Amino acid sequence: MNIEKLLEKKVDEKKQGQVLQLSGSEKKSRKMYIESYGCQMNFSDSEIVASILANEGFTTTKEIIEADLVFVNTCSIREKAELTVRKRLEFYNSIKRDKNPGMLVGVLGCMAERLKEQFLEEEKLVDIVVGPDSYRDLPNLIAKVENGKKAINVFLSLEETYADISPVRLGGNGVTAFVSITRGCDNMCTFCVVPYTRGRERSRDPKSIIKECQDLFNNGYREVTLLGQNVDSYLWFGGGAKKDFKNASKQEKENSLNFADLLNEVAQINPRLRIRFSTSNPQDMGVEVIDTMSKHTNICDHIHLPVQSGSSRILKLMNRGYDRKKYFELIDEIKRRIPDCAISMDMIIGFCSETEEDHKKTLSLMDYVCYDFGYMYKYSVRPNTPASRMEDNVPQELKQKRLAEIIQHQQSHSLFHMQKKLGKTFEVLIEGDSKKSKKHFYGRTTHNSSVIFEKGNHKLGDYVMVKIEDCTSATLKGKVI
Ligand code: SAH
Ligand code: F3S
Repeated sequence: MNIEKLLEKKVDEKKQGQVLQLSGSEKKSRKMYIESYGCQMNFSDSEIVASILANEGFTTTKEIIEADLVFVNTCSIREKAELTVRKRLEFYNSIKRDKNPGMLVGVLGCMAERLKEQFLEEEKLVDIVVGPDSYRDLPNLIAKVENGKKAINVFLSLEETYADISPVRLGGNGVTAFVSITRGCDNMCTFCVVPYTRGRERSRDPKSIIKECQDLFNNGYREVTLLGQNVDSYLWFGGGAKKDFKNASKQEKENSLNFADLLNEVAQINPRLRIRFSTSNPQDMGVEVIDTMSKHTNICDHIHLPVQSGSSRILKLMNRGYDRKKYFELIDEIKRRIPDCAISMDMIIGFCSETEEDHKKTLSLMDYVCYDFGYMYKYSVRPNTPASRMEDNVPQELKQKRLAEIIQHQQSHSLFHMQKKLGKTFEVLIEGDSKKSKKHFYGRTTHNSSVIFEKGNHKLGDYVMVKIEDCTSATLKGKVI
């Protein structure tokens, strides 16, 4: 983004703030503070919440002690994620007691959906509980609380996609943005709480997706990440939950749009708009998407393809819908069509009944794929999921030992990929300052590798060619040429 654009944007943001406060003067100007945990979708949802409340006269603040309303957008995916939120609530309690007695506290997202009324009983501090499909109801819920009542809405919808709401970009860099394309998940992996907390899968109207991406580009953004629990199963046939597709009319079926079609459309907005997407589920990703990626240079050469285990027996217990062989076939297709494509994964270690032999299969699968990077987790039982009725019988110490082994394995593969890049030159989109030095910029290659380099005369949002001179297993260092 050039400086004029940046300034224009700043002025616009200021104006917007004033407008919000002015129109708020009729309603009383109020400040909202929001913290998000968990997946990218939650961060994206918080921007929708900020937008809904901007219409009610709320501005956002980064200072909790001046907030009228404090929201925490929560994650339930593992027990640890929920414990983090409980700790934050203790912290809010201390702020409310000592510094900001008037503040209202709301819990949003997956934990709100999972615990419902129980939350209000367990955490006396909490005034509002709102599930992921009920954010449009926030103004009513807030009014209810202001009238001295507690408020809750955890209704899950078959249709809600917030398609018409333009998110207020919170604390972003003005260069990269998340754009939701689907909500919910129908896959029912046995370990996973998401189908219960985010409801049935539904796709967002493609027109609203294209418009949001186009607007972002016009405002100086240079990268969008299309988000969904399972992006490859995106299917637009005029609205409704995906499960209703079988009842769609002949014409709706003929006019339907799948993920490859959508990618193709978004890629054509502008060749200088980079496109990423997450998450791909191996059971739904097909060659059509891989071919679409290879056709457009602005679709980044990186696929996040969570595998969860290398053992077909465990994959079956997890209800993942593919086995080791099918996963390898997909990897082979990707490597055949986009030879240099970066591939990353999620892995669950120590799922119910995992043996040493299963664990070895996971290690050997990792050797076959040689992932660029990965996110690795110890299995954590989630209440009321199908796996919660299986025995969580891998002892903690063994889970920890296997996890350490898997992490070490991944680090050596990551380092291998980074070292392969030494001496080569990559196009990098500048996304911000390096965390460690104000003299350096941070950006990413098409393969999603982080690169640090001296700023020179470049600016945020520029594409630069960087020659790689040094690396760790997580970061590349180089010089702009
Ligand atoms: N939709 C994505 C996953 C979303 S959850 C997919 O298709 O895989 C993100 C990751 O959290 C999952 O990939 C999984 O590795 C991890 N995860 C989910 N439930 C978990 C649990 N109960 N214990 C440990 N890790 C879990
Ligand atoms: Fe969870 Fe499986 Fe969906 S991991 S989000 S149920 S694809």
